Amino acid sequence: MAIEKRTLFSILLLLLVWSPAGEAHNITAILDGFPDYSLYNSYLTQTKVADEINSRDTVTSLVLPNAPMAALAAKRPLAAIKNALRLLTLLDYFDAAKLHNLQGGAVLSTTLLQTTGNEPGNLGFVNITNARGGKVAFASAAPGSKPAATYTKSVKQIPYNLSVVEISAPIVFPGLLDAPTASGSNLTALLEKAGCKTFASLLSSSGVLKIFETAMTKGLTLFAPNDEAFKAPGVPDLSSLSSAELVTILQYHALASYTPKASLKTSTAPIPTMASSGAGKYDLGVTTHGDDVTLNTGVDHSRVASTILDDTPVCILTVDSILLPVELFGKAPSSAPAPGPEGPSPSLPPSPSEAPAPSPKKAKSPSPKPHSPPAPPTGSPGASPSDAPASDDKPADDKSSATALLAGTLTSLFSAVLALASVL
Ligand SMILES: *[C@@H]1O[C@H](CO)[C@@H](O)[C@H](O)[C@H]1NC(C)=O
Ligand SMILES: *[C@@H]1O[C@H](CO)[C@@H](O)[C@H](O)[C@H]1NC(C)=O
Ligand SMILES: *[C@@H]1O[C@H](CO)[C@@H](O)[C@H](O)[C@H]1NC(C)=O
Ligand SMILES: *[C@@H]1O[C@H](CO)[C@@H](O)[C@H](O)[C@H]1NC(C)=O
Repeated sequence: MAIEKRTLFSILLLLLVWSPAGEAHNITAILDGFPDYSLYNSYLTQTKVADEINSRDTVTSLVLPNAPMAALAAKRPLAAIKNALRLLTLLDYFDAAKLHNLQGGAVLSTTLLQTTGNEPGNLGFVNITNARGGKVAFASAAPGSKPAATYTKSVKQIPYNLSVVEISAPIVFPGLLDAPTASGSNLTALLEKAGCKTFASLLSSSGVLKIFETAMTKGLTLFAPNDEAFKAPGVPDLSSLSSAELVTILQYHALASYTPKASLKTSTAPIPTMASSGAGKYDLGVTTHGDDVTLNTGVDHSRVASTILDDTPVCILTVDSILLPVELFGKAPSSAPAPGPEGPSPSLPPSPSEAPAPSPKKAKSPSPKPHSPPAPPTGSPGASPSDAPASDDKPADDKSSATALLAGTLTSLFSAVLALASVL
């Protein structure tokens, strides 16, 4: 009888910790339970590789105990550590049984590093082999690589979505740890090299470059439009803007936080930019489809294209088109036909005084408000860019209400368990 009660109790407990299909896993929370991997876990958080892992349905984390992790990280920039952690994240499910019985004795597995598109050939793959004596060996897929690490033990499995497995040493290949770093970087030169010359020259002529350079020590994410974007049809003539408006637009292309692409995907509310006033103005909407991330200004959409630099706390991304804030450009600037010789940018509101553009004084004291948390979408209509005709927002709403429902169910379950526990 007592056994039956205990069984019932266990079932209820199981229900309590059960996570429904589709509910994402949280690698940080899982590794929190293992002090041996605290360093590894801390670097997953700092580099935000944790966000990339959590966004995958099927993933295997090859974790390192604190000693080899400390050796890997020693004196290295976070950009290098981020690449190493990505190579240790396999985009397939490998538990102990599968690792020890590889079909044909070997397999090449793709990793998060391969998804960056920055690695030539198959450098973003890991070569797993069944070696002699039942050992499982891991090596880079770079030609001539020797096995660098071996399987040590299984840590945690959520079949068939997430597996955490300990290995003995990092997997590296020549060049893996040479990622460009923020500290050694000249922002202008980086942008020019990435095909964003026009943007770079606007930054320097407007003085906004200084603001961004200062922000690079605390947190900066830049959305740099490429040179093509400035030549696209329907782009307003930026030279007709007041200098305050230009400063606002340029600051609208930046966040005062480290938010790489995978982390953008996790945002559920409009995110404040460096032009944001704190009342939901000049915020950016984000929508995600698979690996694609799109920014919505309320006027237009712009796709996040590539990553130029990713070194905590700085991330520089390119975007396909200029971000035109709805606060300055109304609803549809591109509907304006190519202007005659006399006047470009007809859709600009004629009163620049109305725009909460930063004064030159503000330009000299950087990192103002944007550190405040994202203002949740308030009821005030028109204040947030998310009122654009974006039906994409729907699934997010559904998901959050599902989460609320689940929270309610869990609360009742918890009460049930407590009640039962008091009986036992
Ligand atoms: C597990 O993976 C399947 C598909 O591979 C996916 O549909 C499901 O949502 C995932 N579950 C979790 C908990 O991530
Ligand atoms: C994952 O868990 C950590 C605590 O271990 C928490 O701080 C974090 O917010 C969680 N992330 C998500 C996406 O729920
Ligand atoms: C994988 O590693 C094994 C053992 O070191 C080696 O024989 C094989 O050639 C490697 N395969 C690739 C594609 O690198
Ligand atoms: C940064 O690069 C630009 C263009 O390549 C150059 O004009 C400028 O002098 C450099 N700035 C510094 C501080 O090196």
